[in-house]
Amino acid sequence: MKRVLVCGAGGFIGHHLVQRLKAEGAWVRGADLKYPGYSASGADEFVLGDLRNQTFVGELFDQPFDEIYQLAADMGGAGYIFTGEHDADVMRNSALINLNVLDTASQTGCRRIFYSSSACIYPEYNQLDPDNPNCAEDSAYPAAPDSEYGWEKLFSERLYLSYARNYGMQVRIARFHNIFGPQGSWNDGKEKAPAALCRKVAEAEDGAAIEIWGDGQQTRSFLYIDDCLEAVLRLMRSDWTGPVNIGSEEMVSINLLADMIAAIAGKALGKRHVPGAAGVRGRNSDNRLIREKLDWEPTLPLHAGLAKTYAWVSQQVSAAQFGIAAE
Ligand code: NAD
Ligand code: GDD
Repeated sequence: MKRVLVCGAGGFIGHHLVQRLKAEGAWVRGADLKYPGYSASGADEFVLGDLRNQTFVGELFDQPFDEIYQLAADMGGAGYIFTGEHDADVMRNSALINLNVLDTASQTGCRRIFYSSSACIYPEYNQLDPDNPNCAEDSAYPAAPDSEYGWEKLFSERLYLSYARNYGMQVRIARFHNIFGPQGSWNDGKEKAPAALCRKVAEAEDGAAIEIWGDGQQTRSFLYIDDCLEAVLRLMRSDWTGPVNIGSEEMVSINLLADMIAAIAGKALGKRHVPGAAGVRGRNSDNRLIREKLDWEPTLPLHAGLAKTYAWVSQQVSAAQFGIAAE
């Protein structure tokens, strides 16, 4: 039986990944500062602890793991990473986690490790035109990410690649482009645009207006969690190191994203554009490399993923309003 360690198993992607690995029959140990927020972990063992702490990480690696997924990070949506308030925490916390986990894996002979990097590593100068961003993998240098979060991800990509070159680690690196779905942050200050706008739409009376940060003409693409997991597993089990984009090429403006969610909710809503953390003007996944190397494409259109996500977020909103627990 395959033995797997998931770091960040209490988080959005880590929690879903544990469920997927269990469904495949693996034995899974999860580690995180916290338990998953909305349903019990499916992990065989869930260890609470701080991955910044070397002693804790040493204890986690008390056995050989066939696969390690490193998803733990200090991260959030635009309202968390682009305000500048959390820069030092984000860089210190995530760098310490990566240094500890990777080095301990290497020293204990656990060779195969997945690292979750981000589209935020791409240079701001290629993401100024909302209609024509360039996020091809080979456009990462000369480096100019627009956030310290992006710089830490780029540093850690290089850290993992150096362990591959010097210590024979089997490293796999993905650059995620805005992953969304049920059981992600939706109201804790770390929520990204899909969940945030689902919440605002769910809370709004028909005919009211919801707040959008910026002019809403900034563009993004969003990948549904199930498609993300399929790509992660294909990458991990391939002989391709990456870094490679894992995202959708269905680029939309944030205004259109809000309209799609309002239509799903069956509400006629206006928009009030307000100042807010905006990040880059345009971003879209470029999937040419992953198509070529892994023969992978997203399967779920944005609208279908939003419908599933809206159903879950609106349930959370109703439960919070009535003071009852939601799933
Ligand atoms: P998340 O915040 O839901 O999960 C991260 C988890 O890491 C959290 O549960 C958190 O408690 C845990 N963690 C943080 N510090 C820790 C510490 N010191 N010790 C132990 N656990 C700690 O985020 P997510 O959306 O699941 O993202 C997973 C990974 O993918 C992260 O590395 C993130 O940067 C990356 N990523 C995600 C997206 C996205 O759109 N979700 C996009 C790009 C990159
Ligand atoms: N979060 C949020 N909430 N964003 C909003 C809102 C709102 O209410 N209204 C408008 N936006 C706009 C933001 O200003 C930003 O321009 C855009 O929607 C997308 O915001 P997010 O989804 O929060 O983040 P992002 O796409 O800029 O960055 C995210 O994706 C990266 C990978 O692609 C972050 O989660 C990063 O951590 C991640 O690495």
